[in-house]
Amino acid sequence: MALHSPDVGRHAPVLLEPFVDAYCADPDGCYVDATFGRGGHARAVLERLSPKGRLLGLDRDPEAVREGERLAAQDGRFCIRHAAFADLDAALDAAGWGQVHGVGFDLGVSSPQLDDAGRGFSFSNDGPLDMRMDSSSGKPVCERLQRISERELADIIRRFGDERFAGRIARAILKAVQEGAMTRTSQLENVVFHAVPKQGRFGGAHPATRTFQALRIWVNDEMGQIDSGIKAAMRRLLPGGRLAVISFHSGEDRRVRDLIEAEVHPCICPPDFPICACGRVASMRWVQKKPIRATDDEVAVNPRSRSALLRIAERLS
Ligand SMILES: C[S@@+](CC[C@H](N)C(=O)[O-])C[C@H]1O[C@@H](n2cnc3c(N)ncnc32)[C@H](O)[C@@H]1O
Repeated sequence: MALHSPDVGRHAPVLLEPFVDAYCADPDGCYVDATFGRGGHARAVLERLSPKGRLLGLDRDPEAVREGERLAAQDGRFCIRHAAFADLDAALDAAGWGQVHGVGFDLGVSSPQLDDAGRGFSFSNDGPLDMRMDSSSGKPVCERLQRISERELADIIRRFGDERFAGRIARAILKAVQEGAMTRTSQLENVVFHAVPKQGRFGGAHPATRTFQALRIWVNDEMGQIDSGIKAAMRRLLPGGRLAVISFHSGEDRRVRDLIEAEVHPCICPPDFPICACGRVASMRWVQKKPIRATDDEVAVNPRSRSALLRIAERLS
């Protein structure tokens, strides 16, 4: 049975078939969609499950959870919880679930989040400088910027945005904060545009793209979420259970790869030791060492998929 929602067209799920194939093999299994979004992937999982199969969706965005509640009302095999995936253990415990057959993560933000100017993720439409995925907790970017040093801010923009002009951008942002002119996304866009030297302003993505990405990652502690969420997912998998993760930029993908690699090759003995003395044994294996990318056909219809990287690993024991 195909489960349709009027809202679902607003987020085109990326790598739909390879992602669902990667972590959802047993129709009677119990699965977690750790980033429900608008449920594009979740609906595809449910289409594969038998009447005995179960899917638990998580999202930290209350609007995504409302969409999940609508789906749960249509399909008794599905339930949703408002939770950050760093709290995966607690969410599974609260749902009364033990070990699971697969967990999928589709990281980052959804199209509805980007398109809603009121959420403050985008410079295409002016809105309050917020960027929280969970607007019911934490502080918006414009408030966080009032309590950060120039050095820390430059470091965030450099690390999470791969931005070579991070120093001058940070200086310009904090000057605008002091002048009371850093409360709207259009102000941030304008300040970054003028902080970047002329030769960096044109050709390629808009010069503010990297700074917006960096501030979003910072305010939502996305790297900390990935660390805790992926580790919890690996712990909660049954032997043979699968982890599938889609990331959208190199920093995210590196973090995911390193977390899995630490379970695939856990030995911490110095390289000159003739045999392993630490006794650590692998708990995961790569299903495929290289990440999977979208085909040209998918990129043509869904440009967001251009930067998507799918990694898949399996629990050994
Ligand atoms: C790329 S979208 C997922 C789209 C979804 N796969 C679909 O097909 O509609 C990412 C979603 O994950 C949520 N999200 C991001 N980080 C999260 C976290 N740490 N915990 C829970 N949800 C998170 C976002 O709020 C957003 O709704």
